[in-house]
Amino acid sequence: MYQDNPLKSISWADYQKLPVTDRATYFCRNGHPYHALFAQQYDRPAMERFCDLATRVRKIAKTRGGMRFLQDLLAEKRAMLYFSQPSTRTFLSFSAACQIVGMQTGEVRDTATSSEIKGETQEDSVRTFSSYFDLLIMRHPVGGFAERIAWLLSNTERPVPVINAGSGKDQHPSQALLDIYTLQRSFEQRGGIDGKSIAFVGDLARGRTVRSLACLLRHYDGVKAYFVAPDALQIGADILQVLDEANMDYEVTDDFASVIPEVDAIYMTRIQDEWDQAQESSSVDTSHYHFTVADLDRLKDDAIIMHPLPRRAEIEPDVDRDPRAMYWRQVRNGMWIRAALILNIFERDGEVDRYYQDLMR
Ligand code: NCD
Repeated sequence: MYQDNPLKSISWADYQKLPVTDRATYFCRNGHPYHALFAQQYDRPAMERFCDLATRVRKIAKTRGGMRFLQDLLAEKRAMLYFSQPSTRTFLSFSAACQIVGMQTGEVRDTATSSEIKGETQEDSVRTFSSYFDLLIMRHPVGGFAERIAWLLSNTERPVPVINAGSGKDQHPSQALLDIYTLQRSFEQRGGIDGKSIAFVGDLARGRTVRSLACLLRHYDGVKAYFVAPDALQIGADILQVLDEANMDYEVTDDFASVIPEVDAIYMTRIQDEWDQAQESSSVDTSHYHFTVADLDRLKDDAIIMHPLPRRAEIEPDVDRDPRAMYWRQVRNGMWIRAALILNIFERDGEVDRYYQDLMR
């Protein structure tokens, strides 16, 4: 009955009782995700679709004519960037992605400059955005808040799509999609992501990028994950349960040195100490979880080094010159994958396919 907008058919209280995999169906329209809220929404065909689309957009954007075509695709839509947590890359890459597909943008980055300071609820602020804009891209310190907003807007006159650009310690699905795109491009000549091993290193307890990416990797065959962190910062049991249910192989360890020569990809992360209650992470020795120039010799010749950035001391800057360092490519891939995600939400991707086929003829 509510095929076009399933979120209208369920109360918020009932929605919250659902297991996360069942939640995903509520965010679909016409058989594909309409809101982009958490990694469990995406299966392998969806990820492959985004990767192909991102590559097509990237190639089309190389010429003036191609850019003109892209900028017409969503010229009648506007996007709101609502970032109530700090951001450099995610904000700018979404903003650039909107420009590529021809969307104008508005932004609130500091809620002290909005009417929230006058006591307006965040729910009312967001409802205001949906009056002026056709897409809401939001980063928020509370896990699950983007889901709540998607539900809330779906039950108004203007149910605009919501993209989660990072929610608390929980999820960062668009980052995970750009990480998949980077892995896929890096292993293109070696059979893709299937059969590869990847080490996640650092603050896995509060690193939302790792949590989202681990969920996506379970869709590939024969992938093995190593979760490398001190006990206090290890990956959550909820994520391990998702991997267990998918029969994905993984190892939980605190021994980084012995993992380095084993893996095809190393995903370094920053200690997320903004979440500390009482500076507890400063009492954990995290210096063993740094990647140095000396470690390059122990890494496989065709392995890659990733990082969602921003980095602190986790990767020595001199490592950047090594061709296996992929983190600056991740930054750029983020712009293309986000353009692909937006086009897919608004079902304008078919037009890209047709243009691309003509271009390749
Ligand atoms: C990450 C984030 O915000 O979760 N950054 C990003 O979006 N690329 C990682 C971090 O802040 O450490």
